Amino acid sequence: MSVHEHEMTPGGQSDVPVRMPAGDVPARDAVRSDGPRDFGARVLTLDHVSRSYGDGDEVIHALHDTSLGVRAGSFVAVVGPSGSGKSTLLSIAGGLRTPSAGRVLLGDRPLSSAGERQRARMRLTGIGFVLQGANLVPFLTVLEQFRLVDRILHRDGRDRALALLDGLGVSALAGKYPEELSGGERQRVAIARAMYLKPPLILADEPTAALDSERAFDVVRILADEAHHNGRAVVMVTHDTRLLGSCDRVLTMRDGRILPEATA
Ligand SMILES: Nc1ncnc2c1ncn2[C@@H]1O[C@H](COP(=O)(O)OP(=O)(O)OP(=O)(O)O)[C@@H](O)[C@H]1O
Ligand SMILES: [Mg+2]
Repeated sequence: MSVHEHEMTPGGQSDVPVRMPAGDVPARDAVRSDGPRDFGARVLTLDHVSRSYGDGDEVIHALHDTSLGVRAGSFVAVVGPSGSGKSTLLSIAGGLRTPSAGRVLLGDRPLSSAGERQRARMRLTGIGFVLQGANLVPFLTVLEQFRLVDRILHRDGRDRALALLDGLGVSALAGKYPEELSGGERQRVAIARAMYLKPPLILADEPTAALDSERAFDVVRILADEAHHNGRAVVMVTHDTRLLGSCDRVLTMRDGRILPEATA
């Protein structure tokens, strides 16, 4: 009986069109700051998802029967105490972990039940992930982190990579290796890489943790733009309540559950 349905718009789940937006979807009215916003198609669906770790007497129920829908054009924050299940929620949403029960859809495609290869493919092109602790490949330079993706997909996005790095103030570091960067610089490179393929869904786990407050605001502004101007669905875990102003929804987690959202 602990099911919460977290929806942007009133109404049940059944009338929600579930499809993956193609490319850059203009988020209708999503930039409007007053009144109810009209969001796009459902990008991410968690349907009664649970996740436990361990077995026997040592079972930790990190996520309990959690349902969530995130639409194109919306910027969702997830807050809550340490250990409340935020990273578990995000890694399941991103197909990095599988749920113990329930299912995850990316657009209308099942992610959680897909095979490992297919899941990797869906992650590559459908999800930009900024992990807690920047997830860069240690033996590749900053620019090569992007070129690796290019090579896999037979594309050339060098200019976009440099433009993104420039937007985050780290283009001068293009030739450096992750170990030569500060924590904050690494984090900004990881954010640029998450946005690189213009994925419909961006998941960011404390993307501002290693940044000073000015840089943190810059990053949040960039993520908000990705949602509100480029029509992506963005979910950001954060501990920093100062950053919540640009978010459309704030989900609070406690003991593996999303608390009911306050309605405006
Ligand atoms: N791989 C794992 N094996 C066993 N337990 C785990 C594992 N990952 C997380 N947990 C446990 O699951 C619970 C939720 O962890 P999670 O990482 O999702 O929390 P969080 O809200 O992200 O915390 P933080 O704010 O510290 O990052 C915690 O009790 C944690 O100890
Ligand atoms: Mg975490």
